[in-house]
Amino acid sequence: MPVSAEHIRSLHKYELRILSIIERWMKRYSWVPLEQIKNTIGLSESETDYRLRRLIGWGMVRFNPVPYDGYALVSGGYDALALHALTKKGTISALGSLIGEGKESVVHEAIGLCPVAIKFHRIGQRSFSSARTNREYMPAGGHFPWIFASSRSAEREYTALCALHPKVSVPVPVDRNRHAVVMSLVAGPNLNRCRLDDPKQMLEEILDNTRFAYRAGIIHADLSEFNVMVEEGRCIIIDWPQWVEAGHPNAQQVLQRDIDNILAYFKRKYDITSSFEDAFQCVTG
Ligand SMILES: Nc1ncnc2c1ncn2[C@@H]1O[C@H](COP(=O)(O)OP(=O)(O)OP(=O)(O)O)[C@@H](O)[C@H]1O
Ligand SMILES: [Mg+2]
Repeated sequence: MPVSAEHIRSLHKYELRILSIIERWMKRYSWVPLEQIKNTIGLSESETDYRLRRLIGWGMVRFNPVPYDGYALVSGGYDALALHALTKKGTISALGSLIGEGKESVVHEAIGLCPVAIKFHRIGQRSFSSARTNREYMPAGGHFPWIFASSRSAEREYTALCALHPKVSVPVPVDRNRHAVVMSLVAGPNLNRCRLDDPKQMLEEILDNTRFAYRAGIIHADLSEFNVMVEEGRCIIIDWPQWVEAGHPNAQQVLQRDIDNILAYFKRKYDITSSFEDAFQCVTG
């Protein structure tokens, strides 16, 4: 759950500075030494301690006393930095309720120029090891804290949305900051929660959009009934951070799995039998 908008509004400029100093030093340290924070911020010791205590109380920063006094951002602190930046820029003016929670993200409604969704990527807090093996953008080893993994994941998703919109039916990309992607709000349910009147037509539409994405050089790589939403009878394909380039050595297998998942779902739920070869041909032809 991201920090409340109220806490972000009441953040003091010193607190914001401390958050960004910790963020910066987390490139080097899992736990940023207190000494490092004090030297960088240049405030009195009591002021720094007071500000750090408030940040801990709000669930933005965590303290670890062993083997030295160190501090690290927790998701609330990183959310606060992203939300502060997006608010300052005018991308959003208020954060609304939680609308989705996946394995690797939380999604909220927000108010921008129009209603938007804001997806906070959460790579590595719950699923770092799987992220590292599954996603090619993870470095093989070394210090790579979750904040940067999450930010990289958001960047990848935003890149895909920008490359795909409007050729492919995806949420409209609006902005990104750190691990937060702002996109248009889809007013409708996920495909798995629908009972469609014309499932054949929906299946065709999903395969058409898979083809448009493939032509744009992008394979979703996690296509399923959970990552398709339905708005006014049209499909909108969401959740793109793990996309794979069409020229990738494993591209064909990844595409096959995406198509398999979708065909299997329509078979299971609507008893629609389709030929895998025809569907594959339709996407790649
Ligand atoms: N633009 C949007 N508009 C409305 N709801 C959205 C939007 N994007 C995501 N959601 C909701 O949030 C949920 C989680 O989003 P998404 O699938 O992108 O994240 P995820 O963490 O990768 O999910 P998972 O790991 O479960 O696949 C979606 O299933 C959907 O219900
Ligand atoms: Mg998803």
